Amino acid sequence: MRSTNIEQLPVAQQDMSTEVLEGLKKNSKELPSKYFYDKKGSWLFDRICELKEYYPTRTEISILKDNIDEMVQRIGPGIQLIEFGSGSSVKTRILLDHLDDLAVYVPIDISKDHLFKATNKLEGEYSDLEIHPVCADYTGTLELPDMDVEYERRVIFFPGSTIGNFTRERAQEFLGRMAHLLGDNGSLLIGVDLKKDPQVLQRAYDDDKGVTAAFNKNILENINRELGADFNLEQFEHLAVYNEEKGRVEMHLKSMCDQTANVAGEEISFEEGETIHTENSHKYSVEEFGQLASDWFEVEKVWTDEEDLFSVQYLTMKS
Ligand code: AVJ
Repeated sequence: MRSTNIEQLPVAQQDMSTEVLEGLKKNSKELPSKYFYDKKGSWLFDRICELKEYYPTRTEISILKDNIDEMVQRIGPGIQLIEFGSGSSVKTRILLDHLDDLAVYVPIDISKDHLFKATNKLEGEYSDLEIHPVCADYTGTLELPDMDVEYERRVIFFPGSTIGNFTRERAQEFLGRMAHLLGDNGSLLIGVDLKKDPQVLQRAYDDDKGVTAAFNKNILENINRELGADFNLEQFEHLAVYNEEKGRVEMHLKSMCDQTANVAGEEISFEEGETIHTENSHKYSVEEFGQLASDWFEVEKVWTDEEDLFSVQYLTMKS
């Protein structure tokens, strides 16, 4: 058996209590959406992906499956494949099953535990695959440790429309950092959720079974446990709205009464109806995304589904 060696990059260790308090002391209260993903939150997200209302996951998987031959042909042989947030291995496997002559696969994840489990599983299934896991916060500095593997060029795989969690300005900045990491001849295979009927969007983030509501509220449960806070989950309501002007679905938690919560030794008060903004999920038209990336990238190919719900895009570096 191979033994997995995870390279740990220095992660700028932000402190959860500082970040959480900073968000809750703002005039418009907010929380960083990364705090959704504790154990229960990650489980709930997997349940979201199975909901009839939540179209992105199954649509992206079918776009990948339907076009994998052309994708692999464009990507070519001998690459270093870098993946951010190596969470859903279903999508990765579609690529790994079809890319032959892959030089090395580099999954990057902030959770050492996820990374270790995922890597071990893949090593069992793909015995010839060279895997070089890196534990790092990819939203921080983007640099990879030296690895002793030769490759033709770099390709980043960034599925799930996770880019949608960034504001447009931050997404643009992040595209720049990916370009820097890719270097000459690099390319990017990225999932981008498309603009569509606001009702479809709203339902995708406010499902009938209340799974997304539970996912949203779990951020408070995570904070209660990690910071010894005392949010009363019954006094907050899940809210998902499509903000047409900003082209994004926003999730909020709405206080149903005047109340106070103790968080890391500080008292945070809420008025009835006041909200905590917990997540943004930006939606793009194909033109808009091409424009956003245009400082560094050329959009070579856009694959979509029949209903134009979702896109997978292949971008190459401008020279
Ligand atoms: C994993 C961030 C892409 O924004 O659609 C799903 C998270 N939030 N339902 C998204 C999410 C509510 C998801 N991303």
